[in-house]
Amino acid sequence: MAVRRLAEIQPESFEFTPENQAWAEKQIAKYPAGRQASAVIALLHRAQRQHDGWLPRPAIEKVAAILDMPDIRVLEIATFYSMFNLKPVGKYFIQMCGTTPCVLRGSDGIKAVLAARIGEQDHVTPDGLFSWLEVECLGACCNAPMVQINDDYFEDLTPENVSTLLDNLAAGRDVKVGSQAGRHTSEPEGGLTTLTGFYGHDGAGPVQPHTSGTGATAPSAVSDQDNVPNEHTHGGVDHARDNTIGKPRGSVADTGTRTDDPVGSNQIESSARTTDAPDQAKERQEQSTRNNPSVPGPAGSPEK
Ligand code: FES
Repeated sequence: MAVRRLAEIQPESFEFTPENQAWAEKQIAKYPAGRQASAVIALLHRAQRQHDGWLPRPAIEKVAAILDMPDIRVLEIATFYSMFNLKPVGKYFIQMCGTTPCVLRGSDGIKAVLAARIGEQDHVTPDGLFSWLEVECLGACCNAPMVQINDDYFEDLTPENVSTLLDNLAAGRDVKVGSQAGRHTSEPEGGLTTLTGFYGHDGAGPVQPHTSGTGATAPSAVSDQDNVPNEHTHGGVDHARDNTIGKPRGSVADTGTRTDDPVGSNQIESSARTTDAPDQAKERQEQSTRNNPSVPGPAGSPEK
């Protein structure tokens, strides 16, 4: 991170436009009386948007005056956060993530392209189109390496596709935001590998394929792994839905916890009972009621 200083050349003054002034007053009104300083980040950000993407000193002082704060306190905030630009930026302001996951996935190659095409950080190209800055993690690590250009993220970058991206921006062509490798949001490359089936609205597991006497199989959302026959299937006909489908053997109800690997929790024991046959469950409940009269009897049992 470079030292953050105010630009040498500054405008004479700064005023919010009437629309932005009204917007600023709305933000301030969100906070209790005497706490108007809480709106400082919002107002600085609005001032930056109004002033071509960077904050001049008069804008910082204007925000301080509106919020009745000392100039130095607002200056401290503006110089601390990399989201505030203290010098002019290009029409396309590129923030390149240089944090560990992006570095491990090749951000050094992206950095080399930006340096070769645009020049040093914090420097605007002569045509005013580009400037760039290395920043810390922008929260899209699973699609690393990535850059933010103005308000959009561009991910899964390579030196080749980032170079094409710059060409397209310079030529005024439409560009695709998000992954440049064709994946949907942050799904695994090549498509989903998990969560490809449903457990059903009743939580009883994925629906088993039903086979008719003709041997035809009805469509089902179940994966191949889930189609393994179980003890309730005879002759290819599904006679009963098995609550253990798709879960480890010994799974407690729908918790996924194994009864053969107890952790000493009463909750697990009581959950295990839900897998008992109805008459066993009723017997357990009655025994519990006899041992502890404060425990209500099973549904439908006579009041004591
Ligand atoms: S490390 Fe680059 S987005 Fe998180």
